[in-house]
Amino acid sequence: MGLEYIIAGVCDYILEINGRDMNKGFMVVFDGSNGAGKTTVIKSVEKYLSSKGFDVLLTREPGGTPIGEKIREVILDPSTPEMSFMTELMLFGAGRAQHIQEKIKPALAQGKIVISDRFDAATFSFQHFARGIALDTITKINDLALAGFSPNMNVILDLEPSEGLKRVHSRGEGLDRLEDEKSEFLIKARNGYLTQAQQAPEKFVVIDASQSKQKVLTDVIKVIDSLLDKHG
Ligand SMILES: Nc1ncnc2c1ncn2[C@@H]1O[C@H](COP(=O)(O)OP(=O)(O)O)[C@@H](O)[C@H]1O
Ligand SMILES: [Mg+2]
Repeated sequence: MGLEYIIAGVCDYILEINGRDMNKGFMVVFDGSNGAGKTTVIKSVEKYLSSKGFDVLLTREPGGTPIGEKIREVILDPSTPEMSFMTELMLFGAGRAQHIQEKIKPALAQGKIVISDRFDAATFSFQHFARGIALDTITKINDLALAGFSPNMNVILDLEPSEGLKRVHSRGEGLDRLEDEKSEFLIKARNGYLTQAQQAPEKFVVIDASQSKQKVLTDVIKVIDSLLDKHG
């Protein structure tokens, strides 16, 4: 057996190990109407994954980085209802670009499981389906922000917005600028998630969030387990 053959074998082995480490990281997004149970589910999923020994990074949009959190404050500030739709869209894009570069990609490269409370599907739901900004415009800004990146799975917690708002009210919190929109707007956003899920079934799972917390979590864990089978 020649030296070259042995070196080639060692190189293949290193590539395989690196490949496995790179593949281990994946990103799952929880999205849907306010009050659908995203925060509740994410906390339980984090516990589940940590108990199995996985390294989990929790993040959110808008936000996720120091710059992104400042942008979040500007986007959600109820005292500035005059914000133009285009300004809003570009702020979301700016925050997302920073989020991916500063936080998400490095975490995935370290093999972490990234869980985000909202991501780009929300931009399509709220800015396109609800606000009515042309799909083409959203896609341009989003493509610039994503630069080819895409999360592995979007889990949509589907709930009638009025039910979600009831839950939010019972949480005793005030509404932010987007939650404070008319119910028609929130219904369009909800339908926007469902439309996206129909159009890209390989990237979306819809879960009935009107079920009990326990049942929702059971459904979510099934999705997480199948992602672990694929990437873990
Ligand atoms: N499946 C559920 N059934 C009933 N109430 C729920 C359910 N999931 C969450 N909640 C409650 O609804 C409220 C909103 O949930 P939360 O997880 O904060 O939603 P989101 O993060 O999507 O806005 C919380 O008080 C939470 O305890
Ligand atoms: Mg929440």
